[in-house]
Amino acid sequence: MQRCINCGNEFDLDERLYVCSRCGDLLDVERLRPDDRDVDSLRELWLERLKSGDARDRSGVWRFRELLPFGDDMAVVSLGEGNTPLYDAPRSADYCGLTSLKLKHQGNNPTGSFKDTGMTVAVTQALKLGMRLVACASTGNTAASLAAYAARARMLCAILVPEGQVSDAKVAQALDYGAKVLEIEGNFDVCMRVIQELAEQSSLYLVNSINPFRIEGQKTVAFELAEQLEWNVPDHLIVPGGNLGNSSALGKGFRELLGHGFIRKQPRISVIQAEGAAPFARFAQTSESEFVNEKHPQTLASAIKIGAPVSWKKAWRAVRETGGCVITVSEQEIADAKATIGRDGIGCEPASATTVAGIRKLVSDGVIKKHETVVAVLTGHVLKDTDYVIKYHNQTLTAPETEEHIRGTFANSIMRVAARPCAIESILKSLT
Ligand code: F0G
Repeated sequence: MQRCINCGNEFDLDERLYVCSRCGDLLDVERLRPDDRDVDSLRELWLERLKSGDARDRSGVWRFRELLPFGDDMAVVSLGEGNTPLYDAPRSADYCGLTSLKLKHQGNNPTGSFKDTGMTVAVTQALKLGMRLVACASTGNTAASLAAYAARARMLCAILVPEGQVSDAKVAQALDYGAKVLEIEGNFDVCMRVIQELAEQSSLYLVNSINPFRIEGQKTVAFELAEQLEWNVPDHLIVPGGNLGNSSALGKGFRELLGHGFIRKQPRISVIQAEGAAPFARFAQTSESEFVNEKHPQTLASAIKIGAPVSWKKAWRAVRETGGCVITVSEQEIADAKATIGRDGIGCEPASATTVAGIRKLVSDGVIKKHETVVAVLTGHVLKDTDYVIKYHNQTLTAPETEEHIRGTFANSIMRVAARPCAIESILKSLT
């Protein structure tokens, strides 16, 4: 039996539809209590597993399997996801006006984004159900991730992407992993609508983040982060917001940890959106009136160029319950924050940099205090969108639609130099 998180209805899980038979809302799988083990022995067990050679133990998702809705003997589809680093980022901290700042880098996953932590669970579930064809709509990272996990599971995979709006690196990954890439005329929201309609009529297994098994996998990042901080959660956790699955998942993860007694409080979860693609921020700032989609979302952070986020209700629960907020940042702020993260030797893709840009704003507005503990979740790897990086540093980056020039505040442009040691030497001298 499963229980609907929204209305408490108990029923047998319809694993394909995810719809509660009573309230009609999307079903959220609520995990049973982690058997009779106490908190300390589970903490020990999870750490102990890192030394094991078993693929499930080494995965940063499956080593927390006591809190996942699967039996212990489940054969999983894994690429060794999770166990990502939590970096100190002193330059970024300075830039934000903080004493210190930590960056949880989910770009260090097998396909270079946080999507892998959810995909290992969703594709495992697809395998359990005997599905042959998995599919998603995507701004690129979900596509790359699904393509890889489907390949591991020997499943057919189809992805819908908005034509001309996905970075080459992400399309290249999906092609290499053997997915059928279908470019659709229209934006991500159009792709999402079409694939949802198709999923209702056919036997394909949809793995966008409306699929609760994706959320189950992604919630383990909360477990891993709490473990890395020796079970002391930060005052603030900052995430970028697109389709809003990630913020929903982190909210669920920390809620479960608190419920089971692993932590004493939840971090305040705040979501940052790009100014031109910010329906959630608008909703949050107009004190819970009706949710209005953004018809023409615009941002160079193509991963979060989304106007009709499917998981906004769950994400709102996470923000509201924890006392966080939802704000926007400009294209200029994203670009400069991204370059700053780069100078910490870390790097990330543009969507991830909304976090540091947002923290800077929240510190300056007094929402985050200088000495509070803050963790930002970086969602994608710097190599996911190199075109953006080169343009920023060569000062040719322009905002979408307005074509307004984005200043290379921290530009580090390429120099052409004569092929002579003395020419190079004089440049090296100028560096010191
Ligand atoms: N950051 C990156 C790098 C992303 O790829 C995404 C979403 C987000 C942030 C936003 O996360 O949707 O959970 O709020 N990318 C999806 C995709 C939409 O298709 O790859 P969210």
